[in-house]
Amino acid sequence: MNLAQHSARWYNPDTGTLDRRIFTDADIYRQELSHIFGRAWNFVCHESQIPARGDFFMSYIGAEEVIVVRHRDGSIHVLLNSCPHRGNTVCRAELGSTRSFFCSYHGWNFDLDGTLIGMPNEVDFYRGEFDKSAWGLGSAAQVASYRGFVFATMDSAAPPLDEYLGWVGRLGIDMLAGKGDLEVVDGIHKNRLQCNWKLAVDNLFDWYHVKVSHGTSMRLGLLPEETISADAQMVILGAYGHGIGGPGLKPGQLEALGRRKDGDTSTDAEWFDMQAAWRTQPGVREQLGETGVRSLGHPSIFPNLWVALTNQVCLRIPRGPLETELWWFTFMPTHLTPEQRRTAIWSANHYFGPAGFLEQDDGENWSHSTRGAGGQFTGARPLNFAMGLGQDYVGEDGGQHSIETVVNEHGQRWTYQNWQEWMLAANWPELMATGSPPPDGLV
Ligand code: FES
Ligand code: FE
Repeated sequence: MNLAQHSARWYNPDTGTLDRRIFTDADIYRQELSHIFGRAWNFVCHESQIPARGDFFMSYIGAEEVIVVRHRDGSIHVLLNSCPHRGNTVCRAELGSTRSFFCSYHGWNFDLDGTLIGMPNEVDFYRGEFDKSAWGLGSAAQVASYRGFVFATMDSAAPPLDEYLGWVGRLGIDMLAGKGDLEVVDGIHKNRLQCNWKLAVDNLFDWYHVKVSHGTSMRLGLLPEETISADAQMVILGAYGHGIGGPGLKPGQLEALGRRKDGDTSTDAEWFDMQAAWRTQPGVREQLGETGVRSLGHPSIFPNLWVALTNQVCLRIPRGPLETELWWFTFMPTHLTPEQRRTAIWSANHYFGPAGFLEQDDGENWSHSTRGAGGQFTGARPLNFAMGLGQDYVGEDGGQHSIETVVNEHGQRWTYQNWQEWMLAANWPELMATGSPPPDGLV
């Protein structure tokens, strides 16, 4: 018996109903920081952002600001941005290059691996008896990369990154990393929404809202109706809450991918061509697998990383129970021609991020959903995530498992079931022993 079956404290897997107070309750939020973000492997940056010794990028693990830095030996360290003397930040820049981190309060100086290497008047005022080796910056317990995507965990008991991601998490990253050597475009788009972070995560699997929420974008032609594929959806569920959900091609359909509209030379049509062309390249099918190559869905790496088809990834960073900061990283394969690069950046800017059409529509709805979760009476009424519950099967193609069906809420249910298991588990060993394996058979 797994944890979800033990307790339907917030989410009931039998009915697909969810206690919506998880979107506003301050105690639940604090527990998320310790039980989820404090334990998970969190995406912090891409290696191309810190190519040289001393390069750093400021990121987050949950609510904690961390400095991701390339040490002189080439290794990557993830340091807590707080001086152990009085707690001042030791770095105020979002990115840059440095030889050390110098605290602006009293001048303690830290090496690139966080070691305390200098203190003003150490001999005179501390009488030469201070143990510097015990007072470095705090750091992540484990740091690792998968295909250039750097992750860190504060928990030494977390399984290795490769095992944590499993085949579904790796596939999600492969869908972007497989496009070639990547570099991050300068400038991470950052914007805040008045919503709970989980609503921004469960939306990745939501292909029910598109025609309604994004009706304007569809009428403008930015989002052609055929991209929604309401009758050809594919959901891939992985360990620890990872998943991929969205349109899926039927076997044999891949070869038919080509220019969406004959003779259409508009920028967005060109961009879709670039995506399609990659999927049909030799070697990509071997890389992604028979099921993976047919998935055009949204990969979600639990807890808060979304790999978008627009060559972007987005972090949904919690800023308290009622606020989320979205960070959009745009990636470019280095082999693109200047023309293709312009097209890809155009697409990234117009779909998502603060200037994009789509998440402006979404953010407004998530804010109001969060507001509705906080009411005395509205908050007491559960939310319904039952679409498709008990009506679909997990199938297999080329050794990979997926659910191929119509628009559904399997991915959202998997997210909340895993969220609940993370929240109820006392530690990593308990989560590994009692967490639900990805489902098989009827779902
Ligand atoms: Fe950093 Fe005092 S707070 S040196
Ligand atoms: Fe949307």
